[in-house]
Amino acid sequence: MCGIVGIVGREAVAQRLFDGLKRLEYRGYDSAGICTVGGGDFERRRAEGKLDNLKRELDADPLAGDVGIAHTRWATHGAPTVDNAHPHIAGPVALVHNGIIENFKPLRDELIADGRTFLSETDSEVVAHLVAREVEGGASPQQAVATVLPRLHGAFAIAFLFKDHPDTVIGARMGAPLTVGYGDGENYLGSDALALAPLTQRIAYLEEGDWAVVTRDRIAIFDRSNAPVERDIVESGASAQRIEKGNYRHFMLKEINEQPVVVAQTLQSYLRTLEGRVALPDIEFDLSAVNRVTIVACGTSFYAGMVAKYWFEQFARVPVDIDVASEFRYRQPVLEPGGLALFISQSGETADTLAALRHARSEGQVVAVVCNVPTSSMAREADLLLPTHAGPEIGVASTKAFTCQLAVLAALAANFARAKGRLSEAEERDIVEHLREAPEAISEALKQDEAIAALAPLVAPARDVLYLGRGPDYPMALEGALKLKEISYIHAEGYAAGEMKHGPIALIDDLVPVIVIAPSGPLFEKTVSNMQEVRARGGRIILVSDEHGIAEAGEGCMATIVMPEVHPLIAPLVYAVPVQLLAYHVAVAKGTDVDQPRNLAKSVTVE
Ligand code: F6R
Repeated sequence: MCGIVGIVGREAVAQRLFDGLKRLEYRGYDSAGICTVGGGDFERRRAEGKLDNLKRELDADPLAGDVGIAHTRWATHGAPTVDNAHPHIAGPVALVHNGIIENFKPLRDELIADGRTFLSETDSEVVAHLVAREVEGGASPQQAVATVLPRLHGAFAIAFLFKDHPDTVIGARMGAPLTVGYGDGENYLGSDALALAPLTQRIAYLEEGDWAVVTRDRIAIFDRSNAPVERDIVESGASAQRIEKGNYRHFMLKEINEQPVVVAQTLQSYLRTLEGRVALPDIEFDLSAVNRVTIVACGTSFYAGMVAKYWFEQFARVPVDIDVASEFRYRQPVLEPGGLALFISQSGETADTLAALRHARSEGQVVAVVCNVPTSSMAREADLLLPTHAGPEIGVASTKAFTCQLAVLAALAANFARAKGRLSEAEERDIVEHLREAPEAISEALKQDEAIAALAPLVAPARDVLYLGRGPDYPMALEGALKLKEISYIHAEGYAAGEMKHGPIALIDDLVPVIVIAPSGPLFEKTVSNMQEVRARGGRIILVSDEHGIAEAGEGCMATIVMPEVHPLIAPLVYAVPVQLLAYHVAVAKGTDVDQPRNLAKSVTVE
């Protein structure tokens, strides 16, 4: 993953590079570093851990120089130490790298045999040495990069800095995003438009295999065959404003609380409330011709896709396959003509999902993308873009993007059903009404915040936690377990409630809290039966249901969480709130770093 910024400036760049990194911290926070060039040499500061550590280094020993590159790292090869932190320097070349150089081992062996010494365990350092060897042999920076790029296998975005050419930064991309930015007498490189937003709105997205020579007054772009190319300069529209936490203790809590507003905002572009109709925004696309849907995503977005599978099959009776992107891409899925491949992603940059998208396109599928970042790679490559309007999500654990994805997917399911002739006008009006009720029901669910915070001490000491649900609440159980794992570091599993008896029930004892997600509705009785099986074996249950459900089944539970009574269609949107809040309060009770949990990054741009 990792974030990259480069500036060929007219005045000192260190502070602006650091500000750019702040905007890219979502891509990784294992270490960070900045290198500038001037006065015939490189100057570099690096630090392990969060950007605050790098700031301390910079404050103690400020960096001069008006040209530089910067990096925030999510470790792949080599532990998150200072030695492994970028930028890496090899003689006359410094570099920052995002991605993985898959053939780094033979390249490293070759360079070591050539007498070169490595100072880090990273795959990235081999690229610095390869380019340095060319430059030391007399090649210009441009020639050196052009010679080395074809030798690299894997995915990368790289920015190079040259000691003897202090007016040039060269950027290259293959499989990882990189943009160039056009300024006034200075120019830029960045992993995304957001990083460059305070510097410029005029950007060009490099395409696969492109590389760019960035100087103060010009950006020359070349394609993978080294032929000069033009790429469209567009207004990025990315906000230059830094998102603040406001009065909230964490971004995650702020984003959980934003859900009524952002879900309403998202639904607004998918519902024609006066007519009682659902509609896709600004898109003419004939869903009736689609004979199969393949849903692909990762993590929380995958769980949104699992909920959608229930909806698409129930409402539209269209067959749905679903897979996590990292498996889909390499299992040779059978994709027949007339299929719609639907990709779901908050960031629109997740490498596994992006690779799967390209694979599906090459197999003749129409590509639909549900995405929260309209400038992202996936959004730009979609045939059918279905935006979520969650606004920037900063907390690493996805919350508001998830409920907005569900809102879009519910509307898409209804569109499908209508296109397939399976929805009467009255039924469609009904669905629109229920979806319109979602923001208020989410607000009601948020009122349980204090009650849920009071339950945190019951869960925080546990070593293992189980989540159970049936039907569309099964993915909610998986989502609850994922949220708890990633921010509180407690081992948690989500199970289809009916599957417990086939093995996992052996785990039950009085040390394992079991969170049961069971809204009133068609599956309530069955879920409660499974819950009783757990209780009979000493399981300590937290039942999440509405008043009706709790009256019926709450007796004997360790605790209950009361949700508003809602239509089953919107239950996943509403029940997302208690699982998010429970994970949040348990993490706070355990004192973990809620917004930037260990080992994670917001945007996972390596496969
Ligand atoms: C969990 C979480 C991750 C992401 C996953 C996919 O809270 O945030 O599991 O959902 O990395 O990311 P996107 O949606 O950006 O493709």
